[in-house]
Parts: sequence; C-alpha cells; structure tokens
Amino acid sequence: MTLAIIPSGQACGAHVTGVDLAHPLDPGTIAAIRAAWLDHHVLAFPDQKMSDDDLERFTAYFGGFGDDPFIRPIPGRKHIIAVKRRADETAPLFAENWHSDWSFQARPPAGTCLFGITIPPVGGNTEFANQHAALDAMPAGLRARIEGLRAIHSARAGYAPSGMYGANDRGRSMDIRSDDAALETQLHPFVRAHPETGRLGLFGCAGYIIGFEGMDDAEARPLLHELIQWQGREEFRYSHRWEPDMLVMWDNRSVLHRATGGYDGHDRLLHRTTIAAWEGI
Ligand code: SIN
Repeated sequence: MTLAIIPSGQACGAHVTGVDLAHPLDPGTIAAIRAAWLDHHVLAFPDQKMSDDDLERFTAYFGGFGDDPFIRPIPGRKHIIAVKRRADETAPLFAENWHSDWSFQARPPAGTCLFGITIPPVGGNTEFANQHAALDAMPAGLRARIEGLRAIHSARAGYAPSGMYGANDRGRSMDIRSDDAALETQLHPFVRAHPETGRLGLFGCAGYIIGFEGMDDAEARPLLHELIQWQGREEFRYSHRWEPDMLVMWDNRSVLHRATGGYDGHDRLLHRTTIAAWEGI
C-alpha cells in the first residue's frame, strides 16, 4: 500500500489513504503521517475498521495519552471517551463553540483523535479553523492589540458546577462530571510558536479564554468577541464530513474546532482520545 495525502482544498485538512490503522505501523509510516499532520493540521483516514485497541495504539504513536478531565472514559478503557448524542436528545450540543481541546491545562494536549462509529446521514460535520492562517491574515491594527498578550484559560464556563455541563445540564447521554477544579486558571501566550514547527499562530479563543493578563474585563470581553469573529472566519475553515469507520486526528496547537448539529432524529457516536503535549525529540 502507498500512503497518499489528498488535501481538502480548504484552509486545512487532508484525507489519507493507503494505510491500514487496524495493524501496527512501521516507523517510516508514522513519520510520514506526523509530517502530513504538521502540514495539514487535520487528517482524515476513511475506511478504517478500527477497534478501541487500534485507536489507543495509533494515539500512542504520536505522543501517548493526554489527561481528559470532566468526562468519564468508556467502560474498560482509561483513555477513550464517547462523544455521543441520542436521536431524541434535547440537551445543548456538546462542543458547539470554537475551542482548542483542554487549552486550560498547564500542558494542553498536542492533538485529538476521533473515530466515527455511528454517523448520521445528514449534519454533524466538525468544523476546523486554521489559526496560523488567522494570524497571518490578521489586520495590523488588531494584531498590534494582541501582540505579547497572555491569555487566561479556564474550563469554568463549561465544566464548573454552574457551567454549561454543570448541575443544571439534564438529559445528556455523555458522561460529563462537572467539578470545582474547572474554576482554576492557566496562562498561555495568545500568539504562540507551534512547539514542533515553530510557525506562529493564535492559541485558543473565547470560551476557554476568559480574559487577558493585566487587562480588565471591560476591555477583554469585547476584544475576545472581536477575535473569535476573526478566528472563525469562513476563509480559515475546513468543514469535515464524517463517515462511519473514519479516523480524524487534529492538531490542537494549530486549529480551533467545533461540533455542528443538523442531525436531530439520528444517533451519533464517536470514540475520542487525546494526544499528550509534545515532549520534543
Ligand atoms: C469534540 O470537540 O471533541 C467533538 C467534535 C464533534 O462532535 O464534532
């Protein structure tokens, strides 16, 4: 089999064929996938008959497992969570706002792997926004306002007991456990060099970013609003259409992502792992 990388033609993303992820991969293939991942930021591998063991083995090739707080893993697995929604579910969609996974951690995960199991016939795309492109194209005036800023990240809006997935969140099929630990904060530079490629990009966005160090809320809130309008612009996006048996891996250091709806009346189930922060070679 020959590895083929087919770019999406959008702002990021590529399909990868010519590899069977249900079997161990040789070091050359792993290196080629990593290089393509760093180039395209989101890779989709269609037609993969993968088990949970295969998903874990694949994740381990790229840096081992990240720490997934607030969401219980599936039974029998420490590192796999189920992203799921029943056909009749009415709770707000999970992960519908732009974000970089777990950016509120001290060492946020390098990437995320998501494997499609039950995929609705319509809707349910995952959208990605390329944050290198968003920085490169940013108007000089806006860029001058964010240079050197450190963003304050927190999970509180989602996972604190008072948050979106907290005590008042009912009827959700995902096993989310809110906790006061979500109130903690963590600083990260907002304009940041990618740890592996060195390429500058924007890291995180409104939602997990709740403010900027040394800036009062009255200034930070409208700035975050202006920024997210920019960061998620159409021209920076790739809209990913799912198929059953498709694995997607994305680079949380380069892209934001969000779930979309439009599949009421249909079940949706995917298994997810996170790839730990890169330790360098
Ligand atoms: C996620 O953010 O992990 C979920 C994305 C999706 O459900 O499309």
